[in-house]
Amino acid sequence: MALSKTNPTTTKAWQNLREHFSETKNLKMTDLFANDDSRADTFSIEWDDFLVDFSKNRITEETLDLLLKLAKETHLQDAIESQFSGKSINETEDRAVLHTALRAPENATVLVNGVNIIPQIYQAKKQIQSFTNQVINGEVTGFTGRPFTDVVNIGIGGSDLGPAMVVEALQFYKNQLTTHFVSNVDGDHVNEIIKKLNPETTLFVIVSKSFTTQETLSNANTIREWFLKYAPEHSIAKHFVAVSANGKGVQEFGIRPDNIFPMWDWVGGRFSLWSAVGLSISLSIGYDNFDKLLQGAHKMDTHFKTAAFNENIPIVLALISIWYNNFFNAESEAVIPYTQYLNQFATYLQQAVMESNGKSVDRNGQPLNYQTGTIIWGEPGTNSQHAFFQLIHQGTKLIPADFIGFAESLHENKDHQDKLISNFIAQTEALMKGKTAADVLAEYEKQGKSLGNIQSLVPFKVFKGNNPTNTIFIKKLTPESLGKLIGLYEHKIFVQGIVWNIYSYDQFGVEFGKQLATNILQDIKNNTFANHDASSAKILKYYLKK
Ligand code: F6P
Repeated sequence: MALSKTNPTTTKAWQNLREHFSETKNLKMTDLFANDDSRADTFSIEWDDFLVDFSKNRITEETLDLLLKLAKETHLQDAIESQFSGKSINETEDRAVLHTALRAPENATVLVNGVNIIPQIYQAKKQIQSFTNQVINGEVTGFTGRPFTDVVNIGIGGSDLGPAMVVEALQFYKNQLTTHFVSNVDGDHVNEIIKKLNPETTLFVIVSKSFTTQETLSNANTIREWFLKYAPEHSIAKHFVAVSANGKGVQEFGIRPDNIFPMWDWVGGRFSLWSAVGLSISLSIGYDNFDKLLQGAHKMDTHFKTAAFNENIPIVLALISIWYNNFFNAESEAVIPYTQYLNQFATYLQQAVMESNGKSVDRNGQPLNYQTGTIIWGEPGTNSQHAFFQLIHQGTKLIPADFIGFAESLHENKDHQDKLISNFIAQTEALMKGKTAADVLAEYEKQGKSLGNIQSLVPFKVFKGNNPTNTIFIKKLTPESLGKLIGLYEHKIFVQGIVWNIYSYDQFGVEFGKQLATNILQDIKNNTFANHDASSAKILKYYLKK
């Protein structure tokens, strides 16, 4: 079944939400808590090892009820079924969207054009498993017979960000291999990585679904040239493997067919870490841990597919985000993980969210008259508290934020963990409560300061508060819980795309820039600068003169 093409603003729920917004926009969360002892229970979901508290939001039961109605009126349930069952919901590219099948159990059946894709997924998983074990155990070696010590993932976008984020996030579980990521076409990136490598003991994983991406092929060729200064040509087969849907392109590069790991057109790049694109994850933490990551995501898939909408974590978080984006006109969302391990989580989400939902045409091909994708940004707490939190607390913008924390420290350092978690809780409390002028004055009085001198300072010390946050509190950072967390955000993206009536799985905007860069590269090679706007021609001329 094709996705419905309902303009959300024409639904009854949207009209009601508009009215509801004008009635409730000035409500104070502190009052909502004061008037309802059970608010924290009403607006939270405990599921598996997750506690998701969304009570610190500018919502009432009616808000949630209307948002859930909006999801129904935009036919979310049908869309979920269409996605999981392999319908071509990426209609602009005529493809199914089946990253969920990559983590489905072996006895599942998922049909694409009448063919069950689960057997090929499991065949690829076995290939990943066997290769991972051989590299980690030293059964496959480099050209001089020494075991591999380093792995370099060469890819960009979805062929880099997901694996890089997960490898860093799960470094507590890593083995003896050191993993590097080369992505930028900026030659400084690849050359800095090369400095750290020994050609005898380094394995290169080229990841490119298309195997045509300029950055990846340039980096792969530079590395290949460097490698061949030390090793005979035939050792390419030992040191280079590829993950791609373009077998022909890979073989032309000189990679042996049995060193090619598959990709499929029903997996979007930014949702592909669960496939062989995650080979560097498997090599870094071992196949069993990689599989646990997939199992975690599968648990989140099952929750998303089966939980009632009002108890469904991705759906509730997606709808609350729509509430701020489309009614409060909030432009961005901060994602603040309280663990250094998730240092790259916001960067990863930027591609997943913004490449998916940064669209301005609806599923009817009509320009939109409402806002879509949110701008995602963030850094781990507590560092970010000392960087940009000032703006969230006292700036002029409304910035809803997700706080992600883990109850247990992996290093069992109670002192650090207690301090971390107190900050984690304190910030959401401060953002909600704010500080009134009376609070400020009372503080001064407590300190025995004379009010006369400080009265003029009061306005600067007031925090307006009422800043919304979600708290996603997870027992412990494990491969499985990380899989669930990533799956949660993937489904949130999907839900928002459905409600906004956009296609979330193409990325034509990125492709346009690539085309222009190809033309300009030609100009640089030919030393010409015609056929450009005056500004671009001027910059190009400046570059050509250097
Ligand atoms: O940035 C555009 C994009 O197509 C992403 O969607 C994709 O993840 C990335 O480029 C890399 O593409 P490929 O895996 O084909 O090299």
